[in-house]
Amino acid sequence: MNDSSRLPIGLFDSGMGGLTVFKALAERLPHEDLLYLGDTARLPYGTKGRDTIIRYTLKAAQKLVDMGVKMLVIACNTATSAALEAVREQFAPLPVMGVVAPGAQAAAQASVNGHIVVVATEATIAGGAYQQAIARIRPEAVVTGRACTLFVPLAEEGWMNGPIVEGVASRYLADIFSPDSSMANGANSAVPDTLLLGCTHFPMLQEALQNVVGPQVRIVDSAATTALRVAEELKATGLLSQGNGPAHYSFLTTDNTARFARTGSLFLGRELGHGEVSLVDL
Ligand code: DGL
Repeated sequence: MNDSSRLPIGLFDSGMGGLTVFKALAERLPHEDLLYLGDTARLPYGTKGRDTIIRYTLKAAQKLVDMGVKMLVIACNTATSAALEAVREQFAPLPVMGVVAPGAQAAAQASVNGHIVVVATEATIAGGAYQQAIARIRPEAVVTGRACTLFVPLAEEGWMNGPIVEGVASRYLADIFSPDSSMANGANSAVPDTLLLGCTHFPMLQEALQNVVGPQVRIVDSAATTALRVAEELKATGLLSQGNGPAHYSFLTTDNTARFARTGSLFLGRELGHGEVSLVDL
């Protein structure tokens, strides 16, 4: 056992999306304290340039490190894609986990015909991190990336399903999942059988997305696989909490605690009190 094992795990996202990872972690590791930071003042990250995303991510990570954490989980695909290496370098030997490799693993395992669609922010798709991560696991897989910028504000607004969400999703995705488009792409690309949610906000829209792509498409995300990887890493580094009481959870935001509590409640599926959320500056 390591002395730091008593410290919380720090999780970070540009906003609420990382709460989908938080939830999976709390389920898998019920005795681990969790400290969550959502940089809502600077959201969205997904439309920003790489250098800006790296700068913001390093600041957020610094905040969590200053508060005392035993591990960092970058619960944001955009930040993971651009800044995972920079964060690892800056805070070594602190263990730092991202969500892209776990997401790629989930999709590579789920797909039968090897045609995977990744939906994510503009920055994540442009950076190509998912395309590369899937190619490392399944080199023969065909990966189609699509930036779905408007899914982020929809989820932050708490609009998770219904005709408007489905209309937006259809505008982004209908062409990729239509049988005609795969024929046009040539014999190599069967109609995709797997949709990878490469943004931690997107699992909140899963029901609407399933309605748009059809019941035959498997929808996967990185939350459960990330939680599994975190558990393995804690065990391997002797950092697993030895406590067996209920875990302590803290939530930090860089703007508007009331809004964070309101939308956060939807993401967590439980009432998040206004008083449970603290305002911080980076
Ligand atoms: N949740 C973030 C992700 O996983 C994106 C949100 C944003 O654009 O800031 O990529």
